[in-house]
Amino acid sequence: MNLIMKMLAVPATVLALWAVNAQAATNDDIAKRLEPVGKVCVQGEECKGMDVVASAGGGGAQSPDDIIAKHCNACHGTGLLGAPKIGDTAAWKERADHQGGLDGILAKAITGINAMPPKGTCMTCTDEELKGAIEKMSGLK
Ligand code: HEC
Repeated sequence: MNLIMKMLAVPATVLALWAVNAQAATNDDIAKRLEPVGKVCVQGEECKGMDVVASAGGGGAQSPDDIIAKHCNACHGTGLLGAPKIGDTAAWKERADHQGGLDGILAKAITGINAMPPKGTCMTCTDEELKGAIEKMSGLK
C-alpha cells in the first residue's frame, strides 16, 4: 500500500465511525472535508504525512525558530566556544554596538568570525533569514 492510500485510509476510517454517530452528514459533506487532505498529498511531490502539510503551508521559507533550532542553538544555546547566548541581549548589544549594529554582526555571521562558522552552518539561509534568527536570539531590532 503506498503512502497516498495510507493517508486517505486513515481519515476514511475515522469518517466511517463518525458518520455512524452523526447521521446528518452526507457523502458530499464528507468529500468536502476530505478534499484538502487529498489535494495536499497530490500537490506535494512526496507524501510524507505532516511534512507535506507543513511545507505546503509555509511555502518553503524557514522561520527564525526553525533556523535557530537546527543551526544556531548548538552553540548559542549554551554559549559554547564563547558564543553570545540566546536571550542574553546585553552580550549581543555589546557586539552590535562595536560592529555597526545588527547589520554589522549579520555581516560577521555571514562570513564567519573565529569559532563562529560562516552562516552559522545554515548554508541554505538567505541573509534575511539569518537576520531574523539573529534578531530572535539577541532580542535586538
Ligand atoms: C559552531 C558553533 C556556532 C554555531 C553553529 C553558530 N554560531 Fe554564531 N557564534 C559562535 C561563536 C563562537 C561566536 C563568537 C565569535 C567570536 O566573536 O569570537 C558567534 C558569534 C555570532 C554572532 C556575533 C558576530 C559578531 O560580529 O560579534 C552572530 C550574529 C552569530 N554568531 C549568529 C549566528 C547564527 C544566526 C547562527 C545560526 C544560523 C549561528 N551563529 C550559529 C558560534 C556558533
